[in-house]
Formats: sequence, structure tokens, C-alpha cells
Amino acid sequence: MNPRITLKTLCEAKKNGRPISMITCYDFATAILLEQAGTQSLLVGDTLAQVILGHDTTLPVTMDTMIALTAAVRRGAPNVFLVGDMPFLSYTVSTAEAISNAGRFMAQAGCDAVKVEVDHRHLDVVAALDRAGIPVMAHLGLRPQAIRQTGLCTQGRTAENGLNLIEQAQAMVRAGAQLLLLECVTAEVAGEITRRAEVPVISCGSGPECDGQVLVLHDLLGLPQASGAKFTKAYAQIGKFIEDAAKQYVTDVHERRFPDTEHSYHISAQEHQRLKSLLDSTP
Ligand code: KIV
Repeated sequence: MNPRITLKTLCEAKKNGRPISMITCYDFATAILLEQAGTQSLLVGDTLAQVILGHDTTLPVTMDTMIALTAAVRRGAPNVFLVGDMPFLSYTVSTAEAISNAGRFMAQAGCDAVKVEVDHRHLDVVAALDRAGIPVMAHLGLRPQAIRQTGLCTQGRTAENGLNLIEQAQAMVRAGAQLLLLECVTAEVAGEITRRAEVPVISCGSGPECDGQVLVLHDLLGLPQASGAKFTKAYAQIGKFIEDAAKQYVTDVHERRFPDTEHSYHISAQEHQRLKSLLDSTP
């Protein structure tokens, strides 16, 4: 069994220059496989709204759905560093609500940290969660929950914007963030943030200089709803495997090849004979 991965493990990895691996995950069976594959961390991302529930954006997913699926992932992967993604409006209405929702990720779903999409206006939330004893991963750069305000575009393309991101990252760490996630930040700016941060910095499309990488499962496996973004890489085409297997099953059913005798339960010949006699004697 893999040893339990903690925040300390990830901080040591950063200190020793050992890259950290993280994958998004949304269910029990996949969690078993991903832990067996040796990933150190799983993120139950709010991308769940898109890749599992089929929505266009991450906005519609609820706390209850996030908690139920995050708890399932923890049951499948008891030793990974598990991060729960706080959904839209679950941490911005009030700090009291933010603490109580983050507390559910920790107490009910077995998380090691929660992730919040933030900019300089959310330092108070990060500080409040930290005071409550909840490790926070501050997600900076492209923030899909702000899609209606900002759209989705690469961050850190100008010197001013790069400086702004570097300052935001430093402010988040001062406020108490114990991990950073940079989404779609230029590799150069992400490198500057990583070198300055005392905490592990995970990249989602932010280049190779961060302390670790996260990839959305559906992108990694080539499943429907994969984003196909430039920074993603499909390590398999599992979608095609699933479709081919299902096609074979459908054909077998239609042509009465499944189930065969091997895949059926049977009564013994003697009991079958007795059953026939009973049926014959029943009016
Ligand atoms: O929700 C998610 O899966 C994420 C990743 C894009 C990092 O936040």
C-alpha cells in the first residue's frame, strides 16, 4: 500500500525538487486505479459539472454533489492527498458560510485541503479558512467560475499582468494559502511565482517550471468532454475502448450470443426433472 501523502510530503517534494503529480477524479472505481498508478494527489474538481454532469460551465454544481463524489473518491483512494474544489458561491457569500462549507469537505468527505478560485478580493476568505485550520489551495490565473465576468483567457501575457499575478500569489501565501494552483498562466510568469513561493505550486496549463502538474482525467484518458486545450495531453483513447466494448455487447444481445450458457445460472438436471413433473401435475 502507498504511504499516506500529506501536506508535509508535498512541501518536502518542493524542497527537494521532486515534481508532484495530481489528477482530477470524480468516482470510487477510478480513484482506486489512480492511487494504484502512484499519483500523489487527486483533485475532485468542479469540472465535475462539465465532465460528469454534462453542463457547459462549472457553475451549476452544488455542494451536496461535490461532497458525495469527493467522499466516494476518498473511499477509493485512502492515501492520496485529496483536494476538494469549493463550487461557485460556496465561499463568497460570507466567511461563515465559507468555513462551514469547507468544513464539510474536511469532515464529511475526508479532504486534506480545499481549493478556492481567488484574486486579490478574496484574501479574507483564505485567511478565515486558514484560521479555522483548513489547508487552502489558492487557484489563481484563469478562473472558470468567473467566466461570465472575465471570459477564459491565458493570464500573464503582459509584464503588468504578470507582476499582478506574482503579487497576488505572494499575498495569498501571506494570507495563509498552503498550496497554489495556477491555471493557464504563461510558463515564464508561473516560473517566477514558483521560485518565489514557499508553498507547492501546481500547474494546470502553466508550464513545466511549477512544482507539480494537474491534468483533468477526461483529457488524460481521451474521454468525451475532454477540453482538447493546447496544454492537455491524452495518454490513451479510453473513449474508443468503451464505445467498442459497448458495440460488441449490443451486437451480442441483438444476435442472441449473450448471455450464453456459461453466463447463466442453472438448476440441476434432477431438480429440473422434478420441476417438470410438478408443472405437469399442476392444473
Ligand atoms: O475543477 C477542476 O478540475 C480544476 C482543474 C482545471 C485544475 O480546477
